[in-house]
Amino acid sequence: MEVTIESALAEHSPIGVPRADLEELDAAVRSAAERIATGREQDEHGYAALNLPDETDPEPIEAAVESVTPAENWLTIGIGGSALGAATITEALDGDGATYSLDNVDPAAIEALLADIDLSETAMNVVSRSGRTAETLANFLVVREAMETAGVEWTERTVVTTGESGPLATLADRHDLPTLTVPEGVPGRFSALSAVGLAAAAFQGLDLEAILAGGRQAEASLADSLFESPAYAYGATMYALEARGANVAAMMPYAESLEAFAEWFAQLWAESLGKDGRGQTPARALGATDQHSQLQLYRAGPKDKVVTLVRPRERPSVPIPETDQDAIDYLGGSDLRALIDAEFDATEASLRKAGVPAIRIEIDALDPAGIGELLYTMEAACIMAGELAGVDTFTQPAVEWGKDTARALLRGEQTLETVDGLSVRTGP
Ligand code: PA5
Repeated sequence: MEVTIESALAEHSPIGVPRADLEELDAAVRSAAERIATGREQDEHGYAALNLPDETDPEPIEAAVESVTPAENWLTIGIGGSALGAATITEALDGDGATYSLDNVDPAAIEALLADIDLSETAMNVVSRSGRTAETLANFLVVREAMETAGVEWTERTVVTTGESGPLATLADRHDLPTLTVPEGVPGRFSALSAVGLAAAAFQGLDLEAILAGGRQAEASLADSLFESPAYAYGATMYALEARGANVAAMMPYAESLEAFAEWFAQLWAESLGKDGRGQTPARALGATDQHSQLQLYRAGPKDKVVTLVRPRERPSVPIPETDQDAIDYLGGSDLRALIDAEFDATEASLRKAGVPAIRIEIDALDPAGIGELLYTMEAACIMAGELAGVDTFTQPAVEWGKDTARALLRGEQTLETVDGLSVRTGP
């Protein structure tokens, strides 16, 4: 995997980073890398996530998935970090069987899903680190009841993935459900390379060991200098760009199967780094589609963005048939693979010409190892950016405030009038 920061340098962009600044920043990167290494050695909260490729054992994950009644559909019921890792991996790799992510409590969406899928061909993984997240528990209760109504024995179709204790662990215990443990010290958004992200992949028959091997490859490329480590180059450059006014971090993969990855990245970056009045606002885009929409803004709008372009080096070949029509004959005999690469190169060049910082990430292939490597690299990059910014990367107090308040409102312990800052309402 290669991370290229050339187009994010000051010589190409008014808000780009001067090379000299990056060289100066490298001393701070060195100290941060040492801090991260110590945190990993001591399995400290958050840093422990970077040990997952060595510590996750595929065997119990595969065994838990195999222990439930064989099914055509797999529902991951979770939210945020308890859902996006699984969605990213399964969408990117597309193994056997259909996987769904129930990560919202939109009644219309749940109703439509339950009407669409055959519950007698469905298994579910209820994922919540804390075991007390309202959205996840509510969706589980709705699906459970739908299974009971359809005469489907839900206990034979349910895996629980949760922390050592909590309401979900108690429920799993009570019904003797196969249980996977969210590893200690791993926040939700950093848990993709644990059972949280890998159970759905196991259902799809994907090679978990290869995904973890990709993570280990990224792990092996961590170094004490941003000039020697793709992950730290990305994290440090993003940090330096934010300091120079790149407040928006657009993630633009050139692969449809990486759309969920852009969403996963948005959560990782926003929830980890949006603290103490700082943090880049993630934007999600898809190449080449968004060349026909958002690219206009990225190129010609406010100079407050950095665009990350991601592509696999290997793609399937889909030849474009020859045509005798003059105006489009340049397409004939070419390949969609060549076209999407040309679109990628054109976007990078166009951003560079307009002075918009861009970072290029190229993975070898959209295969299990490539995904493992990409996810690990971004997590390590995020931790590096957090260290440099001096924020507490592994907490999410604003998210927790929202969760607690929603629970209190639902229980009737609070009203909008008693919740700080929510007492002003407009409309009738
Ligand atoms: O990254 C995080 O910590 C959050 O996004 C959580 O994953 C999310 O709030 C769900 O929490 P839980 O796994 O406790 O249900």
